[in-house]
Amino acid sequence: MGETDLHLDALNDLLTQRHSCRAFCSDPVPREQIEQIVTSATRVPSWCNAQPWQLTITSGTETDHFREALQRETQQASPNPDQPFPTRYSGVYQDRRRACGWALYKAVGVEKGDRTASAQQMMKNYTLFGAPHCAILSSPAELGPYGAMDCGGFVTAFALAAQALDVASIPQAAVAAYGPFLHRYFDIPDDRIVLCAISFGYPNKDHPANSFRTGRAALDDIVDWRE
Ligand SMILES: Cc1cc2nc3c(=O)[nH]c(=O)nc-3n(C[C@H](O)[C@H](O)[C@H](O)COP(=O)(O)O)c2cc1C
Repeated sequence: MGETDLHLDALNDLLTQRHSCRAFCSDPVPREQIEQIVTSATRVPSWCNAQPWQLTITSGTETDHFREALQRETQQASPNPDQPFPTRYSGVYQDRRRACGWALYKAVGVEKGDRTASAQQMMKNYTLFGAPHCAILSSPAELGPYGAMDCGGFVTAFALAAQALDVASIPQAAVAAYGPFLHRYFDIPDDRIVLCAISFGYPNKDHPANSFRTGRAALDDIVDWRE
């Protein structure tokens, strides 16, 4: 096997092992490892090398205070994300969205149609799934969707670098739903758009919420080959 194959195998291992973690252990990730993860993630490309990402990263009691304040906020404020959420998922996008939702509900024992239980599971977003750390990711408003696109690459690289250190993670748009609160709580300037949170830490591997994996569309469903 050539060196190139080994590189791809190593990358595919990380890509396959990574999944969105929805139950964490409380043990903190050492600061040095968090710095390694962020440093690795900064290697992604960005338009004009603007590197639009800015992060606020919580640890220890800062995470716990944020978790509590966030849960309080969801009780008293309506969702109001800086960046509009998708208006609808239709066709295959709706199918894929349902499939991953049902896989989660099946794993945690939520019956189809049980709206109370599915809402309770959704609200676990605001406990940060018990993660010891949360990163809030923002991009300059003036860079628009391309700034957000650059940050998407950053999120993926962050998750892969974390996985390389056996640190699990989950990007959370659900947290970004409370935009004004996040700006206030973390002093994020109004000329920045909060895109998502990334909760991270060591995974609770025995938790049912971590027991399923999502599928992916076939190559021919996503590529229009012109040869
Ligand atoms: C930008 C973004 C936002 C997401 N927001 C949430 C979220 O708020 N809550 C959640 O449980 N999962 C969230 N996810 C995780 C997706 O549901 C997950 O990536 C998808 O189902 C594929 O599963 P996998 O990450 O385990 O491969 C988000 C993922 C991305 C990329």
